[in-house]
Amino acid sequence: MANGPGSSENWGTRAGVILAVTGSAVGLGNFLRFPGLAAEWGGAFMIPYVLAFLLLGLPVVWVEWSAGRWGGRQGYNSIIGIFFAMSKSRLAPYLGTIGMLIPVMIYMFYVYVASWCLGYAWMYATGQMRGVDNYATFALDYIGYTQDNGWVFMNPFESPLIFLVITFVLNFILIYRGVTRGIELFCKYAMPVLAVIALIMLGRVLTLSPPEDAPERTVLAGLGYMWNPDFAALANPMIWLQAAGQVFFSLSIGFAIIITYASYMRKDDDVALSGLTAASGNGFTEVVLAGLTIIPVGFMFMGDAISERLGSSFQLGFMALPNVFDQMPGGQFFGFLFFFLLFLAAVTSTLSMLQPPIAFLEEGLGVGRKAAVTLLGFVTVIGCGFVVYFMSGAVAMDTIEFWAVDMAIPLLALVILLMYGWVLGVDKGFDELRRGAEIPVPGFVMVLIKYVSPTFLVAIFAGLVYTSL
Ligand code: PFF
Repeated sequence: MANGPGSSENWGTRAGVILAVTGSAVGLGNFLRFPGLAAEWGGAFMIPYVLAFLLLGLPVVWVEWSAGRWGGRQGYNSIIGIFFAMSKSRLAPYLGTIGMLIPVMIYMFYVYVASWCLGYAWMYATGQMRGVDNYATFALDYIGYTQDNGWVFMNPFESPLIFLVITFVLNFILIYRGVTRGIELFCKYAMPVLAVIALIMLGRVLTLSPPEDAPERTVLAGLGYMWNPDFAALANPMIWLQAAGQVFFSLSIGFAIIITYASYMRKDDDVALSGLTAASGNGFTEVVLAGLTIIPVGFMFMGDAISERLGSSFQLGFMALPNVFDQMPGGQFFGFLFFFLLFLAAVTSTLSMLQPPIAFLEEGLGVGRKAAVTLLGFVTVIGCGFVVYFMSGAVAMDTIEFWAVDMAIPLLALVILLMYGWVLGVDKGFDELRRGAEIPVPGFVMVLIKYVSPTFLVAIFAGLVYTSL
């Protein structure tokens, strides 16, 4: 990669890599997709989610960090090259190409959701989000913003379309210029602020009183909605697939972004602790800061209707959070700051999404950077256009999300695990993981990587095939 996150000039240090990975990992997946998905599945989600985090998330995190650092030493920085170095097989480029397509597909709907955050920030900044007197209709009003195609005819300066255009253009300017310093600054300074605001929101949520017309919907009932296990639902393989997809999506693993970043690390840089820290920080943000805030509020104001399938999982936060800000001193300011910082967190994620395809076009096909960025701009405008056009009911968004996140990522993660555990050899991989490690990595992680994680994924797919017969 010539410029941009992942380039050898820019991410020379270990701290730089950690910041890049954090920028990529923390985003709308944590703050919006997780709460939406968990709410849709009710109390059933947490068990598959925690298991997927421990048995798939952590192993794949370590695989990607160590495979990347190994690959860098063989002279490769992309998944395609690293697969080739592992297997010397001609199949490698084909598998690698899937890895590159996944983030491009994700980009097509992710920028749109990012633009809703910008729109909300604007509405808070201009005082349009205050004055709620009926919470039930309030939530429904706000989902209109993210769902109703009628907005095309709104005042153009306030329609979601304008914010989408701004988000899109901003992204491409930043990608074109290869910003790395901005990502570092954001991760160092703005992300902690985002976490603090989320903590304040959490505090407010835990002290909210139930709506007058539904006194039984207390905060405790809302928390129970997420945590009371519903064992019967665990028989459905789809919940396991979606839990795995969410863990991968949120950690930005399974499509070789981290492999690429880690390939620029030095031979003895720690990867074990870095991977573990990035993964646990990301998980904490998701489950504690976002989950414990958005799900109880959603439940308190919407009751059981919360579990009826939203057009898209991303929408719940947009419906639930205005209720919290409305009942907070300085709510307008916090609302603005929260959505604006979330927007920036989303941008640091979208920037990472287009790095693998840019690298592929540049390194693999010899396309110049300018042409590569232009081509991607073209492709993503068309894709995003589809998403927006079919937004009523979130048809296109849901379809792309399902195939890219729930199906393709777990499949590619399986391939990455097999390449590492069986083709490169888990012993070799494990030596790599342990070299320079600042924490002891227990030997059973090898067993997880070689046997448990792949079997877990195969079992999910087998279950899906079985139930669809
Ligand atoms: N990990 C990001 C989030 O949780 O919001 C999403 C993401 C980033 C997906 C980068 C794909 C990607 F390439």
